Amino acid sequence: MAKLPHWHIMTDIKILGIETSCDETSAAVVADGRRVLSNVIASSAQYQAQFGGVVPEVAARKHIENISQVVDCALEQAGITIRELSAIAATNGPGLIGALLVGLNYGKALAYGADLPFVAVHHIQGHIASNFLESHVAPPFLCLVVSGGHTMLINVVDYHTYNILGSTQDDAVGEAYDKVARLLKLPYPGGPALDALAKEGVPNIPFPMAFANQGLDFSYSGLKSAVINYINTKTMKNEEIVNKDIAASFQKAAIDVLIKKTAVAIKQTKATTLTVCGGVACNSLLRNKIQSLAEELGIDYHIPKPVFCTDNGAMIAALGYYKFLQGELSPLNTNAHAVISL
Ligand code: KG4
Ligand code: ZN
Repeated sequence: MAKLPHWHIMTDIKILGIETSCDETSAAVVADGRRVLSNVIASSAQYQAQFGGVVPEVAARKHIENISQVVDCALEQAGITIRELSAIAATNGPGLIGALLVGLNYGKALAYGADLPFVAVHHIQGHIASNFLESHVAPPFLCLVVSGGHTMLINVVDYHTYNILGSTQDDAVGEAYDKVARLLKLPYPGGPALDALAKEGVPNIPFPMAFANQGLDFSYSGLKSAVINYINTKTMKNEEIVNKDIAASFQKAAIDVLIKKTAVAIKQTKATTLTVCGGVACNSLLRNKIQSLAEELGIDYHIPKPVFCTDNGAMIAALGYYKFLQGELSPLNTNAHAVISL
């Protein structure tokens, strides 16, 4: 493991974090892993809406168009130059390979040019670190990870040790949101639109809670199929389909199972702090139910503010800080990986 350069003074360490694993081109400057000096996000989501979802090749090309402006803007908004950084961090996976390569190579080249250490960051570890931003949260804690690609319960032992307690066996919760939103002809990205529609409806359709009583693993493909079957049956019988009630019923089934398993995990691990991260942590029902659960069990909880829940550079800089402190630097031939374990 590489050692820290001897000239570093361990206060006010500023890290530039770069994130390009999906459709957000983001760069941020974070001081001491906590203080967000800037967090610039250029999303191609609106552009990708015309295709009904993220087209990997399009995402990569949009990152190439945006990356240098986004990074320049992050430094400018933080009021610093590259020379004042202690290190540069970038996501190297998991994610879309072409998209990841843009931010990773940009970060490595910038680090090489400025003679700064480079730190590769795991996207999910970055999401977990979003809990450190503008907060005093510190491990150990239990973390519920809910994104477009992941649904996991993780025991975060310290800044570098993650014990996976359960994960999805098929679709991720965010993926289920996006697929059901598409069935209901809601615009992309589907999660926020479905969340908004659910608030207008009544959860009067008993969709199944998959794996409800089986350990801490999740399954979301059955719930998605149940929605498809419901719509098909109603259509065949020529009965009225109330989209807002489908949305409310889906949302209840999707969120209730997260809460139920999180409660079991808290009891199993005797956790005293609960955190949530990933894009689905923006969900209104999930935020309310996590708060109620934590209050009921009398434990501390933290959910990052929505801009830190969806993909952002600040969370990459936050974890980059702890890896930098640990001397966990990455060589400049570090590659991007579509799949990497935690
Ligand atoms: O963490 P993220 O930005 O990207 C991944 O790493 O996947 O998460 C994106 C996911 C998408 O599936 C999106 O639909 C979902 O987060 N999402 C939501 C909400 N806001 C974003 N899902 C449910 N309710 C929301 N309010
Ligand atoms: Zn993400």
